Formats: sequence, structure tokens, C-alpha cells
Amino acid sequence: MVNNCLIVGHGAREHVIGEALVNGGANLFAFMSFKNAGLEDLSKDIKIHSETDFKQIIEFCEEKNIDFVVIGPEAPLVVGIVDALERGGFPCVGPKIEAAQIEGSKIFTRNLLEKYKIQSNVKSKTFNSMEGVESYIMEMGEENIVVKPEGLTGGKGVKVYGDHLFSKEDILKYCQDLVNQKSRFLLEEKCDGEEFTLQTFVDGKNVLGSPLVQDHKRAYEDDEGPNTGGMGSYSMEDHLMPFITQEDVNKALEDMKKTVAAVKLETGVKYKGFLYGQFMKTAKGLKLIEYNSRWGDPEAMNVLPLLRGNFIDICWAIINGNLSQNFEFERKATVCKYLAPEGYPINPKKDEPVKINKEKIDKTGAKYYYASVYRDRERIYTTTSRAIGILGIANSLGEAEKIAESGVKCIEGKLFHRKDVGTQKLLQKRIDHMNSLLNK
Ligand code: AMP
Ligand code: GLY
Repeated sequence: MVNNCLIVGHGAREHVIGEALVNGGANLFAFMSFKNAGLEDLSKDIKIHSETDFKQIIEFCEEKNIDFVVIGPEAPLVVGIVDALERGGFPCVGPKIEAAQIEGSKIFTRNLLEKYKIQSNVKSKTFNSMEGVESYIMEMGEENIVVKPEGLTGGKGVKVYGDHLFSKEDILKYCQDLVNQKSRFLLEEKCDGEEFTLQTFVDGKNVLGSPLVQDHKRAYEDDEGPNTGGMGSYSMEDHLMPFITQEDVNKALEDMKKTVAAVKLETGVKYKGFLYGQFMKTAKGLKLIEYNSRWGDPEAMNVLPLLRGNFIDICWAIINGNLSQNFEFERKATVCKYLAPEGYPINPKKDEPVKINKEKIDKTGAKYYYASVYRDRERIYTTTSRAIGILGIANSLGEAEKIAESGVKCIEGKLFHRKDVGTQKLLQKRIDHMNSLLNK
């Protein structure tokens, strides 16, 4: 039986999920706020409309006789898209509103991890006024502080001492700004180490992993500049990182399983969908930086194209609660480089044309995924966010990086990217950093 599958979302993450559904044999449909050209080409039909207008999404599902829906981004998840669609009779791959708090509320997550004694938690405290802020900073030491506003901030609201805040006064000022905006916030212990992303499939109980990925949050080379949604990412052919062992992965997976169990105990709702764990390996062990209730963007592009197994079967197993390890990932390295509009993320040039030389890029072997660009009469234009993800897949990181760079050269427009993502030089910097922390 051919499945009619709906993807909700408009970015490169949704483009790669759509591709996985089509590779699994789906009749694809897409509901998105911008016209993603890649999804348009893959789909039988699309609708351009707000991704949080559940009534319209249900109507589209009814009209197209949809079998199940995959939700790409966090914004509709944290306001209850899964609850609404399931009430309307459409099974979803994604967590319900209570379970999606794991991403929507950093305070919920820290409290949950503390209550259920999950090892990778870090010390933190919640505030909604300036009362007690200064004494907590003194207690922790100002150089050990991270400030995290409650709610979704697109990766741009978190401020870390030494990166964005350089004195106690800076911390107090940011906290005061948040109080003025009536935002609750966390002061959290700052960790030092190397980060990695572990993306998993979750059916309410079972948590199955995929190759580790490392993202690059800073806008410019050498990890300079403002934080972004992620400028590029890589994964290795052994599915680990040179500074992360299988034992570390097992521990991270163990904590994710405990978290999924804790969500059920705490909310009464089973966590189903994709769970993204951002961990940091530090001298004091593994630390959980954050959970996301979805695939990562760009990290989905590193992992889904390597899937050997049918993504549709995996989606049904998530929905039906009977996931088993009957799929694997190719033993290949990947490098994804994001092209972003000049000026991103502070002052991005929008509505600028982007030209893809498709024939030339196909010859390089690079894959490309449309992100926040829109198509208007056969031409592609930038918006205010990342534009196109270019992916290289090969037997080694070096080869994958070269393929991604050759792909980048086939795109024209007022765009920039980080040349250093996936290079040996940057990888060595990460390895040296980890070794210095572990005194190796
Ligand atoms: P988040 O939005 O929670 O992923 O935070 C954005 C970035 O801030 C992360 O990718 C980390 O690089 C950094 N960060 C967040 N929490 C911490 C922490 N507790 N210690 C050190 N860095 C952190
Ligand atoms: N790349 C980070 C994220 O998807 O949240």
C-alpha cells in the first residue's frame, strides 16, 4: 500500500525528511509557510500557509487522505500540533504538547532531570525577578554562568560568560532585560568541553540512536561571531567523533531513555517522535546542554541520507510503539555547509536571487537542500535565514568536505558560508581542546 504522507515545515530539515519519505515509497504532500522548492518538486501537492494553523492542516489532511504526518520544526510542536491532528484522526510522528516541553521549556527540562536524578544534568536555578540573582552569581562564580531565557529563542537567546557576557554587570544587565520582558530565565552552570548531537527515534519507550554529528553555531570561521541556527555540521564514518567514545554514546543514550521514561511519569504522556540530545563532554563527564523535540537543522542532513532501511516503516513503528533496530546507517562521513544570506544572522539580505547550477552540482556529487528560500516563478530568493544546505558524503571526512566545497561553488548569490566546517584543521582544534581538558 502506498502511504500518503504529509510533512509540515519549510526548511532544509523538512526537505531531507521529505526525501526520506519519498525514498521509502511515499506519496508526499507538504504544508509550509514558505514555498520550499525542493519539497514542491518532491510533492504531489503543497499548501503554503502558517504551520501553526491546525484547522487548515487538518483540512488539507482530509482533502489529501493523509495516512500520517511528520512534523519538522519545533514551533508547531510546542503549541500542540500533534494533539490537534490526532484529535482530527491523523497519526503524527512528533511529541504531544506536554512531551514537547522538553524543548519548549528549558526550566521544565532542568527540573525534570533533577527530579529523576539524570546524571548529565547541570546545576541551575530559575528566576522571574532580580531577587536572588546576584547572590546566585556570587555562589557560582560569574565566570561559570550561562543565562537561558525560557521558551524558544531559535538558538539565539542563550548567553554564555566569556562568549557573550564578560562581567557580572553584563550578566545582571541581561537578566534585567529578561525581567523587563517578563521572561522567566535560568542561570545555569557553564560547562567546558566539546559538544555533539545525538539524534534518536523514540516510540514512547525505546530510544534508538543515529550517527553523532557536530554542528557549528557561530556565524564566522574559527568559531567567531554571533550564534546562529547552525552554519554547518559533520559526521564521521565510524558514527562517533574523534573525541567521543562508544561508551560516551551509551551513557548519553541511557540518559535519553531515562528522560523519555521521566516524561511519561511526570506528564502521563508518552514521548513519541524524534529526540535530539545536545551533549557536551567535559572533564566532569557528559553534560546535557539541551533537548530538542525534533531533528536538528543542519544535523538531519548528515544522518537521514545515510539511512539504510525504510523511513516510512520507522515512522509507523514510532506511531505504533514498536520500534526495533531493523535499520542501520551507511558507514560514511558527511559534511554539510550552509549558505546563508550576507549579513545573517544580524542583518540578513533578503529577497536576493540565488542561482543553482544544477547540472554542475550534480557532477560534483554534492547534494543540496533548500532551506529558508522561496521560489517565485522559477527563481529562488533569500529570506532572513539560512538559504541552502550543501552536503558531501564520502568514505572519509576529507573527501566529504571537498565534495561539499565543490557543491558550494555551483551556487551564485549574495551568500556566505564557513569554509572551515569539516576541515582537518578545525577537527584537530576540537581534539586538542578535549585532550587539554582531559589532561591527555
Ligand atoms: P542552547 O540553545 O541551549 O543549545 O544553547 C546554545 C549554545 O550555548 C549551545 O550550543 C552551547 O554552545 C552554549 N551553551 C548552552 N548551555 C551551556 C552550558 N551549560 N555550558 C556551556 N555552554 C552552553
Ligand atoms: N542545529 C541546531 C538545532 O537544530 O537546534
